[in-house]
Amino acid sequence: MTAQDKPQGPAYRGDTYAVFGNPIKHSKSPQIHKAFAEQLGETLTYRAVRVESDAFEAKVLAFFQRGGQGLNITVPFKERAHALSQTASPAAARAGAANCLIPRKTGLHADNTDGVGLVRDMVANLGWQLEGRRTLVIGAGGAVRGILHPLLGERPAELTIVNRTPDRAAALAERHGDGPIPVQAGALSSVEGETFDLVINGTSASLSDALPELPEVKLSARCCCYDLVYAAAPTAFMRWSAAGAAWAVADGLGMLVEQAAESYYLWRGQRPATERVISDLRAGLTARS
Ligand code: ATR
Repeated sequence: MTAQDKPQGPAYRGDTYAVFGNPIKHSKSPQIHKAFAEQLGETLTYRAVRVESDAFEAKVLAFFQRGGQGLNITVPFKERAHALSQTASPAAARAGAANCLIPRKTGLHADNTDGVGLVRDMVANLGWQLEGRRTLVIGAGGAVRGILHPLLGERPAELTIVNRTPDRAAALAERHGDGPIPVQAGALSSVEGETFDLVINGTSASLSDALPELPEVKLSARCCCYDLVYAAAPTAFMRWSAAGAAWAVADGLGMLVEQAAESYYLWRGQRPATERVISDLRAGLTARS
């Protein structure tokens, strides 16, 4: 490191973590990690930092040079976080995106805990069985990219990715289609009349309470529907699922907490309990609505 590269500001004392993104104002990560640390009797600092686009790489490197011990990365920097790292977990490598950076002797290590978080919420918290399910994923953006590898690891019968822009779905299917699970892709309309046992909405339409223009699909008797977005009230997709008589419907609050718990574990080797943290966040969400 030359004198010029030297990070500005004091070295961090104690255990310092942060989430970098833009925008970042509404991030719940500081609250979640504070709850984890309290629960485990540990002391740490976790900040939400808004980073300007042209400063991302320099800010990440400076954070670790000053002794920072772990970073979460959120929109729009997950791909750049992966590119900046020396090593990557299979989930991050497949996604080409990282939401968790860990300093190691060999350099920065990239992981992606979004998919593990989703799977853990569906399986451990909600009690859904994923193996053998005909699975439909709607959307092919950043949110979907991070979940496919762990989802396929649960051995669904097959995975179909549909997207408003079909080429993006096709690119993701190609990236994940070399394993034992059949992965296909198409336009939203391509699944007309088909039956699914698990439907995951990974589009950002939910953020504006909109619904992707889905054709008629059949939800099987035990069909589970999951929106990666969380909200105080059921999203348009969750209402669509209920109207289609889905057996179970959930939003992404549990996934948010579980991906944080997995990051905490990767950084600190301790796995926090999540049930209480999820229910406290849920209570906060509904109280504000
Ligand atoms: P994110 O990181 O949230 O995934 P993104 O990469 O911009 O954000 O992807 C947003 C996803 O939501 C995309 O799959 C997008 O479809 P396109 O690839 O065709 O843009 C999808 N999306 C957003 N609004 C939508 C809408 N109203 N109807 C259908 N799909 C929508």
